[in-house]
Amino acid sequence: MYAPTELEKPVTVQTLRKMKADGEKFITVALYDAPMAAMAQKTGVEAVLVGDSLGMTVLGYDSTIPVTMEQMIYHVEAVARGNKKSLIMGDMPFMTYATPELALTNATRIMQAGAHMVKIEGGAWLAETVRMLTDRGIPVCAHLGLTPQSVHKLGGYRVQGRDEDRAGEILDDAAQLDEAGADLLVLECVPAALAKRITDAVSLPTIGIGAGRETDAQVLVINDILGLTEQPPKFSKNFLQEAGNIPGALRKYAEDVKNGVFPEDSHTFY
Ligand code: KIV
Repeated sequence: MYAPTELEKPVTVQTLRKMKADGEKFITVALYDAPMAAMAQKTGVEAVLVGDSLGMTVLGYDSTIPVTMEQMIYHVEAVARGNKKSLIMGDMPFMTYATPELALTNATRIMQAGAHMVKIEGGAWLAETVRMLTDRGIPVCAHLGLTPQSVHKLGGYRVQGRDEDRAGEILDDAAQLDEAGADLLVLECVPAALAKRITDAVSLPTIGIGAGRETDAQVLVINDILGLTEQPPKFSKNFLQEAGNIPGALRKYAEDVKNGVFPEDSHTFY
């Protein structure tokens, strides 16, 4: 059984690829500040995501669309000051990667703020951008399924890939982004069977949120782990309730992911 311990050395893209090959799950937390980032390092959290969810969890917006580059840079810098061992991913805000050239300019700023990888939302249309960034040494995490920056196009925060057509589209997007050189892939709110098909089909490690137990890793937003969200999504879990304190909540989340206990059926879409 896994018991959390502090990360011994910095986690790299290669560390995570090896974990996928070895069938060892890794832990990811979306968080936004130095003290939480330090606690993640102490708990052995392999990857932290400075998510643009901070627009909703920290800044009080009702979507991620208003988040700016300056806000992302401010929070990436804070997380990088607090954590020297986890792999730090920085989200690129709405429309800052609409063309490959724009993506290169803005990804450079996120990396210079202290991220080790950038995350972008979208399918095959981003293959050229992934190539542009990775060829120049900027690792990329892709994000498929429910992509919150497209909430108005998707018609709400809904599960994606329930019908065969949309499932095929997401599978094809994943294959093209993998082929283009993406290093990680977040799968958000997709049926567990689709997440498994994608995870088995691609070479890159997959990170699930509302995507069942069969992805290579899990990610949750720190506010959900700590029960701070007024209307928590079905796929999240308040680990503070059981653990009683914040370090304990993070440890319990890490243990449950590593031991294959979280997510449970009640957190999963079928
Ligand atoms: O912005 C974010 O925190 C995210 C995760 C929910 C995957 O994209």
